[in-house]
Amino acid sequence: MTTPPFFQLYQHNAAAVAQELLAGLSAPQAQTSPKYLYDALGSRLFEAITELPEYDLARNEAQVLSEHAQDMAAHLPAGACWIDLGAGNCEKAARLLGRFAAARYVAVDISVDFLREALEGLQRRFPALPSAGVGVDFSAGLVLPDELALDPAMPRVLFYPGSSIGNFTPEQALGFLGSLHKACGTAAGSGLLIGVDLLKDAAELEAAYDDALGVTAAFDLNLLLHINRLVGSDFALGDWRHFSRFNAQQSRVEMHLQAKRAVTVRWPGGERHFAAGQTIHTENACKWTVSGFEALLRAAGFTATRVWTDKAQRFAVCWASA
Ligand code: AVJ
Repeated sequence: MTTPPFFQLYQHNAAAVAQELLAGLSAPQAQTSPKYLYDALGSRLFEAITELPEYDLARNEAQVLSEHAQDMAAHLPAGACWIDLGAGNCEKAARLLGRFAAARYVAVDISVDFLREALEGLQRRFPALPSAGVGVDFSAGLVLPDELALDPAMPRVLFYPGSSIGNFTPEQALGFLGSLHKACGTAAGSGLLIGVDLLKDAAELEAAYDDALGVTAAFDLNLLLHINRLVGSDFALGDWRHFSRFNAQQSRVEMHLQAKRAVTVRWPGGERHFAAGQTIHTENACKWTVSGFEALLRAAGFTATRVWTDKAQRFAVCWASA
């Protein structure tokens, strides 16, 4: 068994991060990118969210993947290179690599530091599977590094589970999926295996993003601690409350942090006043219909789609042929 190679492409640029965050915080409707929700504590809180009774996305996806495994195997290429987007602990892919007879595995995440342990564990379970880790911020579009030396003749399966696509507005999603279509390469049989949460009752959606135990609130509020570290601001947790609302017009759940009282937040070189009730928009979770999502995949360049759902049609897993 060999140690998988790692390629770190993303260089953390503290000045650029601070500039991006402060621009968002200073906008009339203050907003932040959801990627800042995931510092070390935020990542753990998200894992806890997936265990909550109100948040069933991960459980539904796992059910769809196991229930329709046979039919999926008939559509996905064997002997493919699996490219796991946002691999994290590599657990979801690990359940599929054997089943789909993968020939190569590439784990992609923003930081190879998060990947290292998981990928080495995976390599022990699949000692004969050539594996690699790539550290890259692909939120603005995926570009795979030349160093991977991907075989142009080997089919690729891009794997993007968990309804992470919901963080993008439909316009952003179209551009992002276009970059994934391109990254599928030219080998016959390639495509994208993607999980997406489906539109459902507004009250259920709001509860999924504002659970009774308060884990999602902690996940959202922890963003302020992360921002304080990144830009040197003085957000005080007690001044803010978390809420989620379903925006029916845009078919999305929005997470916001709302000022409980008038607050002035200061950072080196600037400040922002928030009136009582004003919010920072911290995340969108767009919800799709099956037909709307298939149309999006085709608009992004994919030629054919196959969709599997759970019986209650709460979550969809789509295979989009490049
Ligand atoms: C990881 C983006 C799929 O939007 O459902 C969970 C993140 N935010 N609870 C989602 C999240 C609040 C999650 N995604």
